[in-house]
This record gives sequence, structure tokens and C-alpha cells, in this order.
Amino acid sequence: MAGQPWDKPGHDGQNSARKSAPVTMRLAPSSRKPFLAALAGERRSRPPIWLMRQAGRYLPEYREIRARAASFLDFCYTPAFAVEATLQPIRRFGFDAAILFSDILVVADALGQNVAFETGEGPRLDPICDASGLSRLFDEPDWNRLAPVFETLDRLKTALPGEVTLIGFCGAPWTVASYMIAGRGTPDQAPARLFAYRHPGLFALLIDRLVEASAAYLLRQLAAGAEAVQIFDSWAGVLPPPEFERWCVAPLAALIAKVRAGAPDPPIIAFPRGAATQLEKFADMPVAAVGLDTGVEPSVAAAALPDRVALQGNLDPLALVAGGPGLDEGIDRVLRGFATRAHIFNLGHGVLPETPVEHVERLVARVRRA
Ligand code: CP3
Repeated sequence: MAGQPWDKPGHDGQNSARKSAPVTMRLAPSSRKPFLAALAGERRSRPPIWLMRQAGRYLPEYREIRARAASFLDFCYTPAFAVEATLQPIRRFGFDAAILFSDILVVADALGQNVAFETGEGPRLDPICDASGLSRLFDEPDWNRLAPVFETLDRLKTALPGEVTLIGFCGAPWTVASYMIAGRGTPDQAPARLFAYRHPGLFALLIDRLVEASAAYLLRQLAAGAEAVQIFDSWAGVLPPPEFERWCVAPLAALIAKVRAGAPDPPIIAFPRGAATQLEKFADMPVAAVGLDTGVEPSVAAAALPDRVALQGNLDPLALVAGGPGLDEGIDRVLRGFATRAHIFNLGHGVLPETPVEHVERLVARVRRA
């Protein structure tokens, strides 16, 4: 295992060994924001922490403002609500990163598909069943529809505490396509998998459309103030190897390449949930970090991904619901497991609505403990 990045001569792009800078200077962690430092490969004794779905229904203050909007999409598209929902978990828990409050399905909405969220039932879209469904989509997103998202990011730039990093996001092409085909959440995304076997040419068209739309969307988020972006591939784990390569890995690589071409520097995090046995596919992608789901053994991730890639994860969201000694043990196991790598503490999937707020407080305190 290599030492800390700040131990290495030239880690900052200069030959600091030759210039014989004072040792103390080279040992000091950078003054970067903790989350960005981890994404740049710095390992610290206490990793930065944020949680996927850290805003939302488990917070009473979210439920209170959510009740004031007519629909979930209206809520997402109203900057005053979206800014407030983004800030709520930062105020309460002091996380190291704030994630834009929005949803991955706004891209389907902006492409002209009908999207709604039924309370307690999840998303409902007009399913794409054939070529005519596909032909109804716009060639590119209606950027006017998404303008409030960029406005939200712009407002957050000044509203966030200085040491907190602002994360933008989108869904990966495969995951978004799977909802666009099924029209709803399913246990295994079988409708999209069937569609891709039966109509590979049509499915490829949809995936290509999403690669273009998502890359442009992320670039606009970065221009509006996002300092890093995460790509959620929540359904990466349901595809067999050839389809995983074709519908998940290749489109993700294309999406990342397009973002890189437009914005060479901002860190990109990929979250391929369920892809544990194929993590090495992400090793060559120019990502700063890979998000790991609950099932991934830290040593397996460390072996599959090069040292320059930070590892993010991966406490079981149910351990956070349960609390007690199981939570403490789970936290310590994650901290120990990733101690040799640049690590960002997170869950293996999103915070569940039934999570007690006190358990999140306990988690943050334990991770931050000296
Ligand atoms: O992380 C955050 O705090 C930022 C907000 C965020 C939401 N959705 C808000 C939301 C993020 C990053 C997402 C991502 C998202 N959305 C994913 C990828 C991550 C994952 O959980 O797998 C997916 C697959 C979706 C699609 C989606 N949106 C589903 C399946 C559902 C219904 C299930 C559920 O959790 O409610 C949503 C609705 C949704 N997105 C809610 C929130 C707060 C709940 C709606 C409400 O509050 O009325």
C-alpha cells in the first residue's frame, strides 16, 4: 500500500522532493474541502461523510415543506423548495457534501415523457413500448423545463458553508432507460431487460439519447455551480455480463468521456449498484471515486480499483434504521475496511424514510470521532 498522497514527492504536480520543501508542509493535509480532498486521493484519519438520499422523508422539516407543493416534480422545480431541502441535512448533521435536491427522472420529464410521482407508490411514466413511444421523445432535453435546477445550484453556491462541497447528479443511461421502458419501479427491471433483448436497435437509440442528454445536463450543472457530479446506476446489478457491458459500462464510459471533454477537472463519482463482481470495468474510467453498495467487501473493491480511485460507501441503510450496537459495529467495520484507501463514508444505498434522525446523528458523531 502506498503512503498518503501528501507523503509522495510530486503529488501536487511539482517535484517537491527536489525542492526539499519543509517536511511539515508536505505532511500537512491540503486545505481543500475534505470531500474534494478525498476525491483527489487524500486519505485522512476521519473520512468525509455524506449520505445518498440525505434529504427527504425521514426529516420532519422536509415533510413539512414537501406538503406545501402540489407534486413532487413541482417541488423539485421550485428553487426555493429545492434549495431548502438540500440545506436541511447540512444544517442538522454538518455533512461534508450537499447533494442537489432533484430526481434522476427529471431527464425523462425534460425529454417529453410524462412523469409523475404517486405518494407512497413511486414514479409513474407513460411507458415506452415501441418505436412510436420513442419517436415521441424530444431530440434533446427542454432546457427551459430544467432551468429551475440550474437556478437551484446557483443559489446553493452562496448558501452553503464554505467547507461543504456541492454535488450535482444524474441517473446512468441504463437506470433511467429502465424506468422509461417500465413506466414504474419494478423489483428487477424485467420490462427493460426484455425490451433490450427484443428490440436491441430501438433500445440502443434510447440509450444514445440518454448519453447525450445526461452529458449535456451534467455539464450545465457544473457550469451552474456543482463542484462534483455523481452518476447513479442503481440498476447496474440486474444485467448478465454481455448486457452489462453493452447497456451499462459502454454508455457510462461514453457519458463520462463527454463530460470530461466539456469539463476536464471536476470529479465524477460512479455508483454502479450491484456490480460488485465487475468493479474492475470501472478501473479505466476517468472517475475520481466509485460508490460501493452494501454487498461489496472493501478488500475486493480495493483490489479491483486502482489507488487513484477513492472508494465511497458502504454501510447498510438498514443498520442505520436499526441503530444500537449493530449500527456502531457496522460503522467501525466500514471505517476499518477502507482505512488503507482514500475513503468517503456513505451508505450502500439511500437513506430509508423510516430512519430515525438520532441514528444519523450518532453515525456522524462516530465517524468524526478522533
Ligand atoms: O440524495 C438526495 O438527498 C437528493 C435527492 C434525490 C432524490 N432521488 C429525491 C427523491 C436523489 C439523488 C434521487 C435519486 C434517484 N431517484 C435514484 C437513484 C438512487 C436510488 O435511490 O437508487 C432513483 C432510482 C430515483 C427514482 C425515484 N425517485 C424513485 C424510485 C422514487 C420513489 C421511491 C422513493 O424513494 O420514494 C423517487 C421519489 C423521490 N426522489 C423522493 C425523493 C425525496 C420521494 C418523493 C417524495 O418525497 O414525495
